[in-house]
Amino acid sequence: MGACAMGFGKAVPGLVVHNEDLEKLVQTDDEWIVTRTGISSRHVSVNETMVDLAAAAAAEALGMDVPSVPGANIDSAGVCPEPVDPASIDLVVLTTITPDVLVPSNAAALKRMLGLDSAVAFDVNAACTGFVYGVSVAESMMAASHTAGGGARNQYNRALVVSSERLTRLTDWQDRNTCVLFGDGAGAMVLEWRDGEQGVMSSYLKNDDDDANSLTCRQSYSSPLPFDENGVVCDEEAKAAHDARSDDPKVVDYSYIASLGLSCDPAAGRADDLFDIDDRASRGGPEQVIYMNGQKVFKFAAKAMENAVRQACERAGVAVQDVKAIVPHQANLRIIEFAAKRLDLPLDAFQVSIGHTGNTSSSCLPMALVDAISSGKVSHGDIVVLVAFGGGLTSGAAVMRL
Ligand code: COA
Repeated sequence: MGACAMGFGKAVPGLVVHNEDLEKLVQTDDEWIVTRTGISSRHVSVNETMVDLAAAAAAEALGMDVPSVPGANIDSAGVCPEPVDPASIDLVVLTTITPDVLVPSNAAALKRMLGLDSAVAFDVNAACTGFVYGVSVAESMMAASHTAGGGARNQYNRALVVSSERLTRLTDWQDRNTCVLFGDGAGAMVLEWRDGEQGVMSSYLKNDDDDANSLTCRQSYSSPLPFDENGVVCDEEAKAAHDARSDDPKVVDYSYIASLGLSCDPAAGRADDLFDIDDRASRGGPEQVIYMNGQKVFKFAAKAMENAVRQACERAGVAVQDVKAIVPHQANLRIIEFAAKRLDLPLDAFQVSIGHTGNTSSSCLPMALVDAISSGKVSHGDIVVLVAFGGGLTSGAAVMRL
């Protein structure tokens, strides 16, 4: 019994940005980027939302027509031997660190866009390890609903796990240390619970403390807050000015609150203290962008990938050498090479897709999986390991038979 893969999909925005294009933005060059990272180009979304990309990848995995979105330019591909009835999907797990909105969940928007009427839907954020976490969450919920006591829970027979990111929205385009690395895209996989078959064979999830804050991104959303420690603060003059301006009483315009000067979110400040996040925003830098100590993340990554692969393989009762292919997080080709060395495997045992995508965070894995299947590197019945690492510091791996 197990969660077996039925379909796979990926989607990227049509706009391709080459290394040479980035030379116009920061002091860098194609040779440095290719040699140090393995990246030649990446896709950047301008008019495509994260959910647009997610919907295109998911539609490919379900064998449906890709929804047409006015103004969007999306390239998609998928492998789905038999179209899946959208009404039969009962669970949608969407992983992202770049949600289009905070409420409702982006999974809810995706479910509506694709007409997945019966599905329970929610978002997961485990940074770049999101897809492994998402698969593990979906598989665990499916398994729990099929245990002896499963009747007391929702039944999950078919799940859609989608990872979608617009990482370029969190990118500081003046920071050459990071802006050459990231791109946008989405990937998806449909799982079905089957008796007598075992798709997802094991999973291994881990969170190491990021003591050095080597990978962080502050939140910058905060509505103006008309409170201080003593309660409500109301500036009658500003409120009266606002009321006089407001033609339509139905339109609630709280802009006057900003004039109170209370627009910072103290709770967000406390979170920054908790994690001791470097407050570059107050020093004039852009706020909601990824800050990274590349070398610290690099050192963590190679070890974390080796450990996660070994642990997941041991749990699945599979020797690392017997795995057909490893589908790793696509953060840096050199990290994949290090992991290969540590695992005593040839580089050829790994799916490498980074060259034309860059790091698309949690969507790297399902996108690379589509590449591995499309190129014939892996096929039905093969055992693969999905492995990733990311902010948190999260890491994880899942072994599955395709
Ligand atoms: N173009 C040209 N030079 C650059 C550059 C760029 N885009 N980015 C950095 N440099 C420079 C640095 O300023 C530094 O110059 P200096 O020696 O004069 O100070 C030099 O190149 C070396 O920098 P360094 O940080 O040591 O390079 P690196 O070999 O570690 O490569 C990363 C940098 C970011 C590519 C690499 O550390 C990395 O990939 N880390 C992991 C990142 C990751 O996985 N992130 C995602 C996690 S999910």
